Amino acid sequence: MATVTFDKVSIRYPGAERPTVQDLDLEIADGEFLVLVGPSGCGKSTTLRALAGLEPVDSGHLLIDGKDVTGVEPGDRDIAMVFQNYALYPHLSVAKNMGFALKLAKMPQSEIRQRVQNAAEMLGLEEFLDRKPKDLSGGQRQRVAMGRAIVRDPKVFLMDEPLSNLDAKLRVQTRAELAALQRRLGTTTVYVTHDQVEAMTMGDRVAVLKDGILQQVAPPRELYDAPVNEFVAGFIGSPSMNLFPGDGLTLGVRPEAMRVVADGQVPDGWVSREGIVDLVEELGSESYVYASSEGVRLVARLAEQDVPPRGAPVTFAFDPAQAHRFDPSSGNRL
Ligand SMILES: Nc1ncnc2c1ncn2[C@@H]1O[C@H](COP(=O)(O)OP(=O)(O)OP(=O)(O)O)[C@@H](O)[C@H]1O
Ligand SMILES: [Mg+2]
Repeated sequence: MATVTFDKVSIRYPGAERPTVQDLDLEIADGEFLVLVGPSGCGKSTTLRALAGLEPVDSGHLLIDGKDVTGVEPGDRDIAMVFQNYALYPHLSVAKNMGFALKLAKMPQSEIRQRVQNAAEMLGLEEFLDRKPKDLSGGQRQRVAMGRAIVRDPKVFLMDEPLSNLDAKLRVQTRAELAALQRRLGTTTVYVTHDQVEAMTMGDRVAVLKDGILQQVAPPRELYDAPVNEFVAGFIGSPSMNLFPGDGLTLGVRPEAMRVVADGQVPDGWVSREGIVDLVEELGSESYVYASSEGVRLVARLAEQDVPPRGAPVTFAFDPAQAHRFDPSSGNRL
């Protein structure tokens, strides 16, 4: 177990006009599950690879357990990485795949067998230990990749989109299992995803990156309730927050805070907009109603059964006292 510190870390690829990661300051607590999230190309994998020692850092320092590892070889950082493609050896059995790194490290056979056995039990892989990766399902392969990291008992787990090859249902199930497993092991984990739902459901804290710059790091609830700027407000939450640009102020309203009201029934002091429904997403337990109004797309989440149909005129209304407030020029929270 260990803490992880990014201390003003910048990384610039040769020939790039600006750093891919810029002045990153981030302190990850012992045993914490920290998720790095952001749009494609924002520098998540680069950040993780730098921590693993696979990308050189241009300036700043990386610390694991308080020790400066900035110049330390990847193999000497005591980390284990799980990649998106799992990178299993096709010609080796599950057991041999899981024990491979231990064998390289010249650990005694009996100890390797014990560790592989323990990890296999934890992951429900006992009956597959003699199989080759090609004879496993995607979910089982994913668990072998996890097992390979677990047997090493590293200080830190690094995971880069480890669930993205799974179908939607298995992904939801696996993300809950993986989060529970991490809590049981108590191993400090840095987890990369572009999926904000994954980030919100798995992380103790979530760090949001945009263009290589850390926007906010906070527990999921805080990120949702108090986004520091319009970018975080729009990125976290699905469908995205409604934004009403004004002169001195941009108001942000979550879909669940937006009401659909009958004509002439707008509560005192509320802001209203009229529009035409152009899309209804019926999810069973709730519905999302989209309408265009004065060139802006609005969305409301409705829990009730009576949802206005496509083409219907609607009045959307919200209480401005409950809205998020942003500075229109900087986009920062006011
Ligand atoms: N070896 C490289 N040389 C030059 N540029 C690179 C290299 N690797 C990545 N980049 C660039 O750095 C930026 C960040 O890449 P990175 O892989 O970290 O993004 P990401 O946030 O992980 O995105 P994704 O969600 O698509 O995986 C991208 O613009 C990418 O093109
Ligand atoms: Mg990536």
